[in-house]
Amino acid sequence: MTKSRKILITGSQGYIGSSLNKVLFNKYNLINLDKFISPLKLKQKNFFKINILNYNKLNSLFKKFKIDLVIHLAGESTIDNISKERNYINNNIKATENLIKLMKKFKVRNLIFSSSAAVYGKKNRIIKESSPKIPNNIYGKTKLITEKIIINESKSQNFNYVILRFFNVCSSIREKKVGEFHINETHLIPLCVNKFLNNKTLKIYGRNFKTNDGTSVRDYIHIKDICTAVEQCIQYLFKKNQSQIFNLGTGKGFSNLEIVNSFKSKKKILKYIFIKNRKGDVDKLLCSYDKIKKIIGWKPRYSKLKKIIRDEIFWQKHTLKLNKQRTFRY
Ligand SMILES: NC(=O)c1ccc[n+]([C@@H]2O[C@H](COP(=O)([O-])OP(=O)(O)OC[C@H]3O[C@@H](n4cnc5c(N)ncnc54)[C@H](O)[C@@H]3O)[C@@H](O)[C@H]2O)c1
Repeated sequence: MTKSRKILITGSQGYIGSSLNKVLFNKYNLINLDKFISPLKLKQKNFFKINILNYNKLNSLFKKFKIDLVIHLAGESTIDNISKERNYINNNIKATENLIKLMKKFKVRNLIFSSSAAVYGKKNRIIKESSPKIPNNIYGKTKLITEKIIINESKSQNFNYVILRFFNVCSSIREKKVGEFHINETHLIPLCVNKFLNNKTLKIYGRNFKTNDGTSVRDYIHIKDICTAVEQCIQYLFKKNQSQIFNLGTGKGFSNLEIVNSFKSKKKILKYIFIKNRKGDVDKLLCSYDKIKKIIGWKPRYSKLKKIIRDEIFWQKHTLKLNKQRTFRY
């Protein structure tokens, strides 16, 4: 039954898109698009190299397949000084506007959108969906504007959406060629694993936060838990005529030192030094996932620290075997 449903994944060559593609492959009829072809040479059925900003090309795709649901993951998410503001506006806001126009034209009734914890900004607290939205960077700002566009357009265009605000997505689904492969990676978990495997020293920002061990605490979610949640949201949208906004994190959080110390069991240690705090970094950023638990019954199952690290080590060793160079910023 579900195999007949056509689902478009945008950003399918990226980290979350390629993982979801594997997980959903046998369950739905997938159509995949990305403006970029991954150096990992992923094999994706029905893959189309399309920039969503190219309305005509996207129009042809919608014409060719009668799409039932869109999982919109394509976007600009690198937080650095190199990426231009324009890239965020184009790839997050304008691209989504194009997509929605075509959803309207071809009567696509369901959308899952990958938003981010960055819409909340940096405030010490347990974050609920209703918490104030004060994004402190261009990434968070463009995600928040895109959310508002989706909410407004859904009313006039008669589609339902689930907006998912991902916290720090990490680790791998342990499938060949599928994992996080960003250029100049800045995310902490892959950085730790990279330093550990190469006997290098990790730099930890600050040791005077108001936490148990003095290092800052963040909410990390295993990519497998993300995939499970998206799967449940697809089923929700196909069954219910309702829209939702959900946080996706674990509510638990790990401190930087907890992460570093979790490597001890592996016969060698992860070396580290402390450096000065980064401006604006807060003690703790944690998420409440009560809403998604209550409404669709999702809860994290794979986001234990040991599993996160084990599956990321698997992935980085695998990329070495593939002879693919993943670059790290720090
Ligand atoms: N990874 C995380 O921790 C995290 C956290 C919060 C939110 N998110 C969001 O989830 C989504 C997926 O994240 P990811 O980590 O897989 O990112 P990613 O960078 O690995 O993948 C995004 C993909 O989108 C594609 N893309 C960008 N603009 C496009 C366009 N105009 N047309 C077609 N393709 C385009 C890119 O080529 C890339 O392959 C992003 O929107 C991101 O903002 C991710």
